[in-house]
Amino acid sequence: MCGIVGFTSLKTPAVGPLISGLRRLEYRGYDSAGVALESSDGIQIYKQTGKVAELDALLRQSLSPEEGGRATIGIAHTRWATHGQPTKANAHPHVADGGRLALVHNGIIENYAALRAGLEKHGVTFQSQTDTEVLAHLIAQFDKSADFLSAVTQALKQVEGTYGIAVISMRHPGEMIVARKGSPLVIGICDGQTVVASDVSAIIAHTRQVIYLKDGDVARVTPESVNIFSLDAMPVSRDIQEIDFDATAIEKGGYEHFMLKEIHEQPDALKNTIRGRLDRSEGTAILSGFNLSPRELAAVRRLVIVGCGTSLHAGMVGKYLFESLADVPVTPEQAAEFRYSNPLIGPDDWVIALSQSGETADTLAAVRESVRKGALVSALCNVVGSTIAREAGRGVYLHAGPEISVASTKAFTAQVTALVMTALKLGRTRRLSREEGIRLVEEIERLPELVASVIERSDAIAAIAEKYAATNDMFFIGRGILYPTALEGALKMKEIAYIHAEGYQAAELKHGPIALLSGKTPVIALLADIPGKEKTIGNVQECKARKAPVVAIVTEGDDDACAHADDVIAVPRTSQHLSPIVSVVALQLFAYHVARLRGCEIDQPRNLAKSVTVE
Ligand code: AGP
Repeated sequence: MCGIVGFTSLKTPAVGPLISGLRRLEYRGYDSAGVALESSDGIQIYKQTGKVAELDALLRQSLSPEEGGRATIGIAHTRWATHGQPTKANAHPHVADGGRLALVHNGIIENYAALRAGLEKHGVTFQSQTDTEVLAHLIAQFDKSADFLSAVTQALKQVEGTYGIAVISMRHPGEMIVARKGSPLVIGICDGQTVVASDVSAIIAHTRQVIYLKDGDVARVTPESVNIFSLDAMPVSRDIQEIDFDATAIEKGGYEHFMLKEIHEQPDALKNTIRGRLDRSEGTAILSGFNLSPRELAAVRRLVIVGCGTSLHAGMVGKYLFESLADVPVTPEQAAEFRYSNPLIGPDDWVIALSQSGETADTLAAVRESVRKGALVSALCNVVGSTIAREAGRGVYLHAGPEISVASTKAFTAQVTALVMTALKLGRTRRLSREEGIRLVEEIERLPELVASVIERSDAIAAIAEKYAATNDMFFIGRGILYPTALEGALKMKEIAYIHAEGYQAAELKHGPIALLSGKTPVIALLADIPGKEKTIGNVQECKARKAPVVAIVTEGDDDACAHADDVIAVPRTSQHLSPIVSVVALQLFAYHVARLRGCEIDQPRNLAKSVTVE
């Protein structure tokens, strides 16, 4: 969940590219940061708690231009603490061998305590409470006698857990060793320099030619060469791939926050998700990435959708889509629960993994468990070349473009849109008629304009947010397909505005949570004009009876629904299958404006990180 960068060049000083790389990866973790710069004088370490900007300030104070100019190889890290508080001592890089070796790490060394005890018996003293420092000392033990690569592989063979690492050593000047197991690592191939990073956003400024390392890969990297090996030091070849977006895609583009930019990008993102995937004449979807024949689709007995956080909420919306459009039973599963439940799945089950980043550790493990149990496994991911996408082997990319803000927005609407198209495709192998299919295709094609019209109401939503920005507790309620949408609305409010927000199935309130309602607990009710609305209006009246102020997301022109709310956010009319998409955009904007008014760190909320690569 941290971000690591490595840079080695024939002539370009490393400090600049390392700092700009860290800034790109800051959404992966931002409680402390550090760099190690190697020059003929040795390895200089600079670490700081807080954001990359604080590290940059430290470097500007303490690094003379000569020193900065001399080091053309270096490694860097931005941290999301797992072991040890966010302190300078626990910040990476960690050193060993009297400062001759430095290492940065993303992941968790699970057997670090045992390894540490063994090293302490050999007189090694530790400067930090981290699991990572153990690995630095372990490599140093072997580095005294072996070549750099085998020193690293021998050490890694003793490690249990996950890692993405970059190591430099004065015993092997000019060489960098990188390795991955469970945590992502990408190598950027350029002319006379090589860049290594946790994801492509830190590489795109240098090159679009990249190599995605696989689990068990170890690479020796110099400015002019990249050689990849297995942990047994056997040569391994990996394809060079092209990054499919350019650097502007990861700029704010004039918006105050990436989250606001990504909310506004949704109409275009949905056009990309839909493009070339609908067959209007047959009223179905194409989605060749699933690589499943109509016969295989028709043979699917049950669907299991796995994911975490926002992706899990999209999966829960998927349940309503597949069961109503394709008559197949669906079980949405929280990935961590699923992977450790010894799940009852088999060849007749289709497991679809949802992950924006394609790197979430629990979802990856759920994919591996499903493959192990012989289920049909596919993935819906946004990041091209991500581990989940590669390991699932078949699936659909969302093409929503890079999502930088920790709070996921356009990935959710793209995930639900892709799930509607998948349910349409599966439904057409069963009871869904061509006419019904064509109607749904026409609706899906209108989605970008419908979403654009919700975004146009941002100022009106901001005015309503003004009234509720000082609130500390909120309830989001919905029924049927709008229940997981309510969960998603509550998650956004928790993540970026730090408001204790709960999402509930509207009927569930009176079985307990209603006890918490008062004039201080606004209720955000999803009242789109779809089946179940009347019942939800009944629940809204129960809330009003407890003096709770109500903000309702209604279908424009539905005066009946408006009559029950203190404040109303109107969204365009759609079928129930697409109602989560237009309703959630209103909830995203509501949460965004509340957080903005509360002065919250919207793009990098406290304690969070964009992709959760540890359990
Ligand atoms: C959502 O805003 C959060 N960032 C988080 O819940 C996220 O959805 C979850 O970590 C899953 O991430 P993924 O889609 O990249 O697997």
